[in-house]
Amino acid sequence: MRSNGQPVRDGAIPADLTAFIGRRAEVAAVKGLLRTSRLVTLTGVGGVGKTRLALQVGAGATGAFPDGVALVELAGLADPGLVVETLAAALGLQNQRARVTLDVVAEHLRPRKALLVVDNCEHLADACAQVLGALLGAAPDLRVLATSRQVLGITGEQTFPVPPLPVPAPDGAPDAEELLRYHSVTLFEQRAAAVLPGFRVTADNAADVARLVHRLDGLPLALELAAGRIRSLTLKEILARLEDRFALLTGGSRAASPRQQTLSGLMDWSYDLCSPREQALWARLSVFPGDFDLEAAEAVCAGADLPAHAVVDAVHGLVEKSILNRQEHDGRARYHALETVRAYGKQRLAASGELALHRRRHRDHCLDLAARAQSHWFGPGQVAWLARLRREHANLRAALDFCLDTPGEASAGLTLASLPHHYWITHGALSEGRRWLSRLLAADQEPGAARTRALGTYAYLGIMQGAVAETVPVIAEYERAAEEARDASALAWSRHHRAMAAVFSGELTRAAQLLEDAVRRHRAVDDLAGAAECGFKLAVVVGLLGDTDRALELCRESQDVTAAHGESWIRADALFAESLIRWQRGERARADAPAREALRLLRPLTDRWGIALCVEVVAWNAAADGAMERAARLLGILRRLWEAIGGTLFAAPFMTESHRRCETDVRRALPERVYERAVRRGAGLTLDEALAYVLEESPADEEPYERAGLTRREREVAGLVAAGLSNKEIAARLLITRRTVESHVGRTLAKLGLTSRSQLTAWAHRRRSAD
Ligand SMILES: Nc1ncnc2c1ncn2[C@@H]1O[C@H](COP(=O)(O)OP(=O)(O)O)[C@@H](O)[C@H]1O
Ligand SMILES: [Mg+2]
Repeated sequence: MRSNGQPVRDGAIPADLTAFIGRRAEVAAVKGLLRTSRLVTLTGVGGVGKTRLALQVGAGATGAFPDGVALVELAGLADPGLVVETLAAALGLQNQRARVTLDVVAEHLRPRKALLVVDNCEHLADACAQVLGALLGAAPDLRVLATSRQVLGITGEQTFPVPPLPVPAPDGAPDAEELLRYHSVTLFEQRAAAVLPGFRVTADNAADVARLVHRLDGLPLALELAAGRIRSLTLKEILARLEDRFALLTGGSRAASPRQQTLSGLMDWSYDLCSPREQALWARLSVFPGDFDLEAAEAVCAGADLPAHAVVDAVHGLVEKSILNRQEHDGRARYHALETVRAYGKQRLAASGELALHRRRHRDHCLDLAARAQSHWFGPGQVAWLARLRREHANLRAALDFCLDTPGEASAGLTLASLPHHYWITHGALSEGRRWLSRLLAADQEPGAARTRALGTYAYLGIMQGAVAETVPVIAEYERAAEEARDASALAWSRHHRAMAAVFSGELTRAAQLLEDAVRRHRAVDDLAGAAECGFKLAVVVGLLGDTDRALELCRESQDVTAAHGESWIRADALFAESLIRWQRGERARADAPAREALRLLRPLTDRWGIALCVEVVAWNAAADGAMERAARLLGILRRLWEAIGGTLFAAPFMTESHRRCETDVRRALPERVYERAVRRGAGLTLDEALAYVLEESPADEEPYERAGLTRREREVAGLVAAGLSNKEIAARLLITRRTVESHVGRTLAKLGLTSRSQLTAWAHRRRSAD
């Protein structure tokens, strides 16, 4: 049965880069376990195939989980306090309120029949046990498939030790065809052929292949690494070197399992076979928690022994040897190492005594990116830079971790956590931003520009979350710091934040005074972005106080300056402010267009908060126009958005009345069943689909029940026009006069905004195919 929930699609399972091999019995077994237990953990040594198996099960389980399957990747996350935030992000939730994010996630999952695939829990076992335990307790239809080198220890946890791939006997004279029945052999053959096109298991090499895959215990990662050598070494050479290597291994750590020994032996072997430059790069790249681009690798890993211009060759060398995987995002290549491979590199880096040095260089690279993003904030590069930073979120976190756990680095952390000023807000990660900032502010209390700036960002986030009482003292400290440093720009911002605190406390007159002051101060220091942002906020407040003429003028100013600079985010807000004020003035028809324009600007930023505010106005308008079923669907979209944000119209109490009225009107106008269905359909859309619907970009998706309020007769006439009947024929068919038919057709065209019968025909056909 489908629940009332929405699909969980944001943390989508990625498409495979290579074919999945074998594992039919394991897939079936894990699916079976998921039917009887709510938490299944795949365990096993690194490289045995836990992740791959979990993804395969997840991708094949969508039928059993109508609300979706979401992937939560924890590799590279160091801070156990961010497990919940990571989970929320994978579910497309942005906790915009000062609420406990775990509650927001639990509330979201409660009605849903969903599967979470949580990969790489081992290093955060306690936090995972706590968070997943709480979610499973709150959401009765939730299931979790985790991967971890160790058992997580949650009550009810069912573990499934992932076996390696089956291997043939090492000796004997197997024939090739028989060998290829072993999936370890298939995997080796496919990976070898990717490096050396045309490689096949044949009668000639069958005995060597059998020995090799046996020697590697059928461990998929080991097979991949060995296959990566097939271009430079023959099979016999690979085998001979491996056997030398493994001979050395006996008598190694007693604690390690034989498979663990196989893997670490193979890692050593692979490492030794790399050129010195590749070795240096492998070790240094381990400071990247997840993926990275070439520019980052050059900035962080180059050194006397690895010139920057040589990094690209070393990267390609590592890709060829299966140490790195290459993917493409937005036309840029990004690389990443499997967790096991990365961990090995990290050991090497630590052993060389260079770990701290390269973590610092990684942090410096992140600082540089953040500073560049900040410099593009008020201009046409804004959207692209925010998207770029978002891709680097895992890297930013790792850099912030370094700042916190390395003495003397907290001050750089304060700068990083507040550049760009709006990063956490546009990214919908307010709680996370506040968490970093509060920890860094506690770690380094030395006055200075970095601290002042961080206090400002911290105050901004607190206010945006509606945490007024907690934030007022932060603003006061910020203001004191700004006064001491005679930082006029910060003083403008402190007024700006104080004003917003007043808005939240319902003191509009006071807020208006402070905003007037703040705008003046922003302008005095040439902070055009600050002034434009302050301007639209002032517009809203002034409008609420009754001076809507001035409010519209302020909106216009904000819109003009942001448009002139090619800026998007503040401009969207200023457009939204205009639509709200027009609505307030009763200029309904003129309220819709600016809200839609704002939505188009916000779409690439995926700022759910801004999007929700604009959809409100569009929904109210639809209801006021009598497009009730559309309005109901929009209300469903809003329900989903507000839930994802973790609240209601908390920051815009002046909008709640219109929202309530819209909901009441729509409910009253539609039969209960129709209303509920439309709301459900709206709530079931992803953000992209929802925006397409709001902006009416997908006509095929329209509700047949009504659009622009066609009467039953008008719909009937439209259907007959589309069927190719003339007005005379329609009149005969419906037993009405030709003139009546003409007037029906005319009204229908007008209601649909169409101008010809052929357009009407096309419209009706689209409509029918949508039904
Ligand atoms: N059944 C399989 N088919 C194809 N490739 C596999 C399979 N199992 C594992 N691999 C590959 O082997 C490597 C290690 O597997 P992975 O799932 O990352 O191991 P783990 O998560 O246990 O460390 C990856 O490159 C993965 O794509
Ligand atoms: Mg894994």
